[in-house]
Amino acid sequence: MIFNNLLSNIDAGEVLDVGCGSGQFTEILTESLKSFRTITGVDVDEESLAEAGTKFSDDNFRFLKAESQELPFEEESFDMVAISKALHHMEDPVASLAEMRRVLKTGGYFLINEMHRDQLTDAHESHMLYHHLRSEIDNLSGISHNKTFYRKDLIMLSDKLGLAERTILEFSPDSSRAMDTDNIAEFIAKMDGWIQALKGHPESRRIEERAEELKERFRKFGISRPPQLLIMGSK
Ligand SMILES: C[S@@+](CC[C@H](N)C(=O)[O-])C[C@H]1O[C@@H](n2cnc3c(N)ncnc32)[C@H](O)[C@@H]1O
Repeated sequence: MIFNNLLSNIDAGEVLDVGCGSGQFTEILTESLKSFRTITGVDVDEESLAEAGTKFSDDNFRFLKAESQELPFEEESFDMVAISKALHHMEDPVASLAEMRRVLKTGGYFLINEMHRDQLTDAHESHMLYHHLRSEIDNLSGISHNKTFYRKDLIMLSDKLGLAERTILEFSPDSSRAMDTDNIAEFIAKMDGWIQALKGHPESRRIEERAEELKERFRKFGISRPPQLLIMGSK
C-alpha cells in the first residue's frame, strides 16, 4: 500500500491532520506511520469531529473545531502536518497551506493527499462530474467546495511551500467495481439524497436534471474514485 511505503519508516511525533472529517485519513496515518506520539485532527464540521472522536478515543488523539486558515496553535508546534482530500474544500488553499506550514516545526514533514483530474478513464470522469455536482450544491448553500484540481495546480501549490526532498507519488484507488450495479446504485442513492435536501431551492430543478444525466452516464461508463497525488517533503 502506497501510504505504508511512504510512511512506515517515519517516527512522526506530534501530528496534525487538517480537514480530518470523521477520521478516515487519521486511520491511514495510525496504520502507516512507524510511530507517532499524538494526532490532532481539526475540521469545521462538528458532526464529523464527534464521529472521529468516537473512533479514536485514546488520550493521544484530540479532535478540535478549527478553520484551516486560522489554526489555533503556536508556530512550529507539529512534527508532521497532513491534509487529505480536503484542500479542494478550502476557500483559500494557498492561505491554508501557509498556515499549516506556520505550525510545522523546521525539519518536520508536510504531507498532501489530493485527487486530481488528469488522464481520467470514463469511470473516473463520472466521479469527477459527480464531485462537481456536489461542489455546486455546496456552493449554492454557501459552503466552499471547489472543483477537482489538475495535477499541475497541486504541484504549483506545493512549490510555494519550498519543501526540501519533495516526493510526488501518484496512485489510483481500486476501479474494479466501476461497472458493478451495487457500486453505481450507491452513488445514485447519494445523489438522490442531495436532491431531496435541495427541494424548494430555486436551482433544484436544474440540479435534478443534471443528476438524471449523470445517472445515465454512470450506467453507461461506470463510476470510480479518481487518481490521487501524494506530495511529501520537509520544511
Ligand atoms: C472530503 S473530507 C476529507 C476527510 C478526510 N481528510 C479524508 O481524507 O477522507 C473534507 C473535509 O474538509 C473539511 N473542511 C472544509 N473546509 C474546511 C476548513 N476551512 N477548515 C477545516 N476543515 C475544512 C470538511 O468539513 C470535510 O470534513
